[in-house]
Amino acid sequence: MFLSKEEEKILERGDGYSKCMEILVALGDIFGAERLIPIKHAHISGVSYKNIGEEGLEWLKSLNVRFSVKTTINPSGMDLERWKDMYLEEDFVRKQIEVLKVFKSMDAELTLTCTPYYIYKPIKGDHLAWSESSAVVYANSVLGAMTNRESGISALASAVIGKTPYYGLHIKENRAPNVLVDVRCDCDLSLLGCYVGEIIEGIPIFKFKRKIRDEELKALGASLASTGNVAMFHVIDQTPEWNDFEMPKEKIVIDNIKEIYFDCEPDLIALGCPHLSKEEILEIFDIVRRYDGKAKKEFWIFTSKHVYNEVTDIIEFLERRGIKVFKDTCMVVSPATEKFRCIMTNSGKALTYLPKLRRVKAVYRDTFKCVSSAFR
Ligand code: F3S
Repeated sequence: MFLSKEEEKILERGDGYSKCMEILVALGDIFGAERLIPIKHAHISGVSYKNIGEEGLEWLKSLNVRFSVKTTINPSGMDLERWKDMYLEEDFVRKQIEVLKVFKSMDAELTLTCTPYYIYKPIKGDHLAWSESSAVVYANSVLGAMTNRESGISALASAVIGKTPYYGLHIKENRAPNVLVDVRCDCDLSLLGCYVGEIIEGIPIFKFKRKIRDEELKALGASLASTGNVAMFHVIDQTPEWNDFEMPKEKIVIDNIKEIYFDCEPDLIALGCPHLSKEEILEIFDIVRRYDGKAKKEFWIFTSKHVYNEVTDIIEFLERRGIKVFKDTCMVVSPATEKFRCIMTNSGKALTYLPKLRRVKAVYRDTFKCVSSAFR
């Protein structure tokens, strides 16, 4: 990969900046990138102490670097204010705070959310280095921004250097769809994403019978990226780049997606993977209002503090009705959910990862069924 004189100098410094440059050069060489290009925004995953452990924390500390572009970070393992309500141990809390202090010292914004696009919305053509798979697929598909599916480490290296190797989805021609998915049912998009992610490779273009809401596109993308290596999709007549390419020859037809039932009785209902938008919180509020009294089961929802602060009156109402609203964390990256036996969720991504990462059973229902099952 070609490096400018300035980039070569960074490589020779022998410090944390050199390590970051080495990571980008190795990545560029593997994928045949010609050069580095500047990015507008980096978003880093791998923030929960549960995921990175002592080794990850020590590595972060050893770098001794500062970010050179706007950098946001993914959820941590706990709500910074309400960790006691998540039944977390103090040792874990201390370590998590240490991780966050290191990110702060590097100049990260402690956004602690997987929906950075609700805070800083990239525009079409912006080059990013994002490492949260659900955010990557949303940025590429729904916003028309350009990012590869980075790892936490490569996104961090890009945040430090302010650049990313020019390959993959940063190049327009690589964003062409390779399979048409003709969806003939009015099916649940979280489940559709899980199914399609498993059976295809590359970039699907969907044909739907109706207009798909933004929140449904978010759920579709998160699910696609959880069961498959998908980093982008198109939707005919909807997403910004759907008409920029030829229609692919390969086609699959979906007539029906069955709800997935597992044989377990949930002891936790959890919504907010990816973090809930304001509209999704209002949707939950509307359903809760149909019932009297408090939730009869443990019921947690997850959002960013950014969205939380926009709907504090709604959140107070939900809390009074027995729902715990957490921010800065999520059901998958926090060890808190390991204490439960079976979690009911409306998220295809959580359905995929809760059993793998938290070793807890998960059962899928749509938002209405999740909320109403808590109050019946
Ligand atoms: Fe976000 Fe956690 Fe799900 S980071 S996409 S809520 S696994």
